[in-house]
Amino acid sequence: MTRTTELAAIDKTESSSVISVRNLTISYGSRIIQKNVSFEVKSGSVFAIMGPSGCGKSTLIRSMVGLLQPTSGTILVNGTNYWSQSDRKRVEINRSFGVVFQSGAIWSSMTVGENVALPLQMFTSLNARSIRQLVQLKLGLVGLSDAIDLYPSEISGGMLKRAGLARALALDPKILLFDEVSAGLDPIASARLDDLILALRDGLGATILMVSHELPSLLALADDGIFLSTIERTAIAHGSPQYLKQDCNISEVFNFMHRLAGTTET
Ligand SMILES: Nc1ncnc2c1ncn2[C@@H]1O[C@H](COP(=O)(O)OP(=O)(O)OP(=O)(O)O)[C@@H](O)[C@H]1O
Ligand SMILES: [Mg+2]
Repeated sequence: MTRTTELAAIDKTESSSVISVRNLTISYGSRIIQKNVSFEVKSGSVFAIMGPSGCGKSTLIRSMVGLLQPTSGTILVNGTNYWSQSDRKRVEINRSFGVVFQSGAIWSSMTVGENVALPLQMFTSLNARSIRQLVQLKLGLVGLSDAIDLYPSEISGGMLKRAGLARALALDPKILLFDEVSAGLDPIASARLDDLILALRDGLGATILMVSHELPSLLALADDGIFLSTIERTAIAHGSPQYLKQDCNISEVFNFMHRLAGTTET
């Protein structure tokens, strides 16, 4: 291979990464949560961030959506250095993200439909009728067409999760970030949500970054991932959940993937 074709090959590999995280260190004040974390999220993949409670998974998501500036390291989004952009440019990049936060963050004083309409009202100049149509479309995607005029207190936990998903999909994002989207659901509802996530990836051509403690979901959905250690405060394993379960003998990873006691308070 000549140097030019070699470089072209490298370029191609890099360009298939939607997100590249390099030597990232995230902290709250002087308290380092994770250090020197690096990983690549390939286009169209489902990438899992795994690790015990408190290791810093949600903190990592926060650093990727503009809520917490990393202490050091870089996050590239489609090749653009996310944190070296102006605030305005970062907000623009955020429009390509659909985020479902761990807390859900659905407004209880608004109906399901109004919650989904909110990003459309904030970030587009569409009129009320077009917004209503889009809201109906998004709620249809997650099987919530009938809940458009209900308040969050009037729907079940599983429906709430799907409402959060519909809102995350409002602006047709190409990158979806899910923090514990299936936590607290019964196994059937959780499996249904997994199917929905795969359908979204295939139907929308989205790339998905997911945080989850749910082993069945991790195994069913993710094709790649990292494991963040609380003890080492860095990523101690890379690979698909399947691989980490079958072939990784690092004890913290093994215990998590095999649900051994005393390792994963969720
Ligand atoms: N706003 C904050 N200020 C200071 N410390 C925080 C803040 N948010 C989280 N932490 C701390 O950072 C660490 C990582 O928290 P984080 O919520 O990222 O963990 P997690 O891996 O998402 O856990 P879980 O699986 O329980 O959701 C914890 O020790 C937590 O106490
Ligand atoms: Mg969390």
